[in-house]
Amino acid sequence: MTQVETYISEHKERFLEDLKGWLRIPSISTLPEHRADVRRAAEYAVDQLKQIGFEQAELMQTQRHPLVYGEWLKAAGKPTLLIYGHYDVQPVDPLNLWDSPPFEPTIRNGNIYCRGACDDKGQTMLVLKALESLMRVSGSLPINVKVLIEGEEEAGGESIEQYVKTYPERLRCDAVFICDTHMPAKDIPALITGLRGITYTEVEVHGAKHDLHSGTYGGVAPNPLHALAIIISRLKDADGHIHIPGLYEHVRKPTHAEKEFWQHDPLQIGRAMLEEMGVSQLSGELEYPPLERIWGRPTLEVHGIVGGFVGEGAKTVIPAVAKAKISLRLPPDLTSETAFKLFERAVLDVAPAGVTVAVHKIHGGEGVLVLPDAPPVEAAARALKEVYGKDPVFIREGGSIPIAALFYEVLGAPLVLMGFGLPDDNLHAPNEKYSLDQFFNGIRTVASFLEKMG
Ligand code: BES
Ligand code: MN
Ligand code: MN
Repeated sequence: MTQVETYISEHKERFLEDLKGWLRIPSISTLPEHRADVRRAAEYAVDQLKQIGFEQAELMQTQRHPLVYGEWLKAAGKPTLLIYGHYDVQPVDPLNLWDSPPFEPTIRNGNIYCRGACDDKGQTMLVLKALESLMRVSGSLPINVKVLIEGEEEAGGESIEQYVKTYPERLRCDAVFICDTHMPAKDIPALITGLRGITYTEVEVHGAKHDLHSGTYGGVAPNPLHALAIIISRLKDADGHIHIPGLYEHVRKPTHAEKEFWQHDPLQIGRAMLEEMGVSQLSGELEYPPLERIWGRPTLEVHGIVGGFVGEGAKTVIPAVAKAKISLRLPPDLTSETAFKLFERAVLDVAPAGVTVAVHKIHGGEGVLVLPDAPPVEAAARALKEVYGKDPVFIREGGSIPIAALFYEVLGAPLVLMGFGLPDDNLHAPNEKYSLDQFFNGIRTVASFLEKMG
C-alpha cells in the first residue's frame, strides 16, 4: 500500500463524517427560502479547503448564490488543474417517497442516502479528500490546483457563467477536472467524452380574462389547457420525432467508432436502463439505437403542466391560464439559443386560434465533446485502471453540465469528466444515494490522477 492509500484507509470514518456534515445542510438552490442554507453549505466548503491547507480559500459573493474558490499554487513548474464541483442540490419532493429524511444522511447496505449524496456533494467531497490525503502525506500537492465550487448548478448557473467570462485569467489552467458524472456499473470505470446541452422553457397560454363556467361558456370559450395539449402533441409525435422545423439539421453525426459502439451496446446499457426504469419497452425514435437516442439525439420533454382545477372532487371551470415547463436536450452543435428560437417559432406556429401564447427561456447551456487522447484524460484513464483493475470505457452522457462547455470555450484547456456515480443513484429523485465503495475508490483514483498529472 502506498502512503496515500494508508492515509485514506485510516481516515475513512472522518471522511464520511465530513461528508455527512455537508449533506445535512439543505442547500436547495432553486428555492428562495433556502438561501441561507445555500450560503452555509458554501461556508462549509471554504472551511474544508482551509483545513486541507489551501493558501487561499474564500467565499465569493455573486448576484445569487456564492461561489467557493480555493487555490494552492506552490508546485513550481508543474501543471495547473482547475477542479469544479457544485454544492447545491435539487428539491426533495415528493417527500413521502423517501425511506429516510432527505437531509439526514443514513447508511444502508453500503450506501449513503441523502439529497446530494452523489450529485454533487459526495463527488465533490471525494475530490477534497483526495487533496487532503495528498497534502497530509507529502506536505504538498503534486500539481497546482484551483478549486471552484458553485451553488447554482441545479438552478441555471448564471453566476458562475458571469464569473468565468469576466475573469478568465484567474482560472487559467492546463486542464479542467469535473467530478459530476457516472460509470455504467461498479466494475466498469468510465470517462465521459460528451455531454448534451439544454434549453429550458416555460410556455404560457392565456385565454379569457378570467376563469369561466364551463357550461355557460363551454362551446365558445378558448381553453388554454387544451391548447397546451395540442401544442405539446404537435411538437413531438408518438414515435418520438420532434416536429420543430430545422432542429435536426444542426445535429452533428457521430464518428464511425461511436456509431459502432452505440449500435452494438457491448455494455448492455440499454437493457440496464430498461430494468432501472421498470418499464416494458424503451420509448423514442426506434430507428436510432438507444445509446444514440440518449447521447447523440435531441429530445423534447414536458416536465410539468399547471392550470385549471386539480383538487379533490370536481369543479366545472374553463381556466384562463395554463403553463407548461418544457425542455430540449441538445447534442453538440445544436446550440441552446438556436434550439430556443426554433422551438419558440414552432410553438407559435402550431398554437390554436383564440389563445395567446408566450414562450419564455428559463435557462440554457451548451453540450460539449472532449478530446479522448488529451494527456490529462490519459492520466485519468491510467488512474482508473490502477484502482479498478480495468481500462475505462469512453462513453457520453445524456445529462448536462453547462459550465463544461464554457470552460472549454473560454479557457481552451482539455476537460476531464470523471465521476463515480452509478445508474441507480436516484439523482434528483427520492432516495438519492452514493455507494461508499465508490466514494472511497473515487478518493484513491483522484489522488492517483493528480500524482500522474504531476
Ligand atoms: N450531475 C448532473 C449531470 C449529470 C447527470 C451527469 C447524470 C451525469 C449523469 C448535473 O447536476 C445536472 O443535473 N445537470 C442538469 C443541468 C441543468 C439544471 C442545466 C441536468 O442535466 O438536468
Ligand atoms: Mn451534478
Ligand atoms: Mn444534478
